[in-house]
Amino acid sequence: MSVGYRAVQWNRAKLRYDGILLAGVALYIGIFLLIAHRLDPPKDLPAAIDLRIRAFGSCAFIMLTVILSIGPLARLDRRFLALLYNRRHFGVLTFLIALTHAAFMVEWFAVQDALPNLYDELTRTSDYAKFIGFPFKALGLAALVLVFLMAATSHDFWLTFLTPPVWKSLHMAVYLAYGLLVMHVALGIMQSDRSPLIPAMLVIGVAGVSVLHLIAGWRERAAASASRCSATAARSARSPISAPIRTGRSARAASSTAV
Ligand code: HEM
Repeated sequence: MSVGYRAVQWNRAKLRYDGILLAGVALYIGIFLLIAHRLDPPKDLPAAIDLRIRAFGSCAFIMLTVILSIGPLARLDRRFLALLYNRRHFGVLTFLIALTHAAFMVEWFAVQDALPNLYDELTRTSDYAKFIGFPFKALGLAALVLVFLMAATSHDFWLTFLTPPVWKSLHMAVYLAYGLLVMHVALGIMQSDRSPLIPAMLVIGVAGVSVLHLIAGWRERAAASASRCSATAARSARSPISAPIRTGRSARAASSTAV
């Protein structure tokens, strides 16, 4: 018997989730472009495309930060399970926004008849030995490939086909992608643009995701050790005859819960 898979299983909750997601993305990009055009109107077409590169790039980075925060948030508070529920669509949309960012970048070179410069930048091997001057676009490209692999395998078919441990390992690469993106921004735009908003985006993103993971892990360890202690105490209470001859860890655990 074969298992049937549907490309996407839509339901009311997923449609609402996706609607809110799309509205949020449209709002962010719209507001970004509006403010950027008001503050410093682009002088020519490449400058206008550059603003789109930045709007879509920062949007994808923020979306990836939210994706990485949903897991620990759902472990800390069950109300966030609603966000976890459709995280796959979030991931696919993030890939599409990042792809648009990269496509605008190609357009930026194309409208200036400078596509060979892009090729040169990516293939000048001596630059890969530098820190400042590293071809930061290659870091973005590597992250984009990883995000694509995750988006392409986000369906249940791939979970079954690859087996859960392999699928899980592949999807853990999202942390590698995030690290590559931090370097993509730090070695790229941050070297030429002195706006404090860019380092702020990186610091808040990395610190926020790390702190959430640490708190969720710490809470789970504390809850697991509390439940181990109460199970030991319950066993001791049920079998009073064996209690006096307990030694080692169980004796210590039992005595600690008796305080
Ligand atoms: C997952 C994929 C990617 C993400 C999330 C991403 C994210 C970002 C972010 C956040 C910025 C800084 C925008 C700002 O705050 O102003 C940026 C800049 C930039 N990215 Fe990416 N990027 C990705 C992939 C790529 C790829 C594949 C390329 C090209 C091969 C690329 C080329 C650029 C360029 C040229 C800039 C600088 C734009 C400027 O000088 O104004 N990115 N990217």
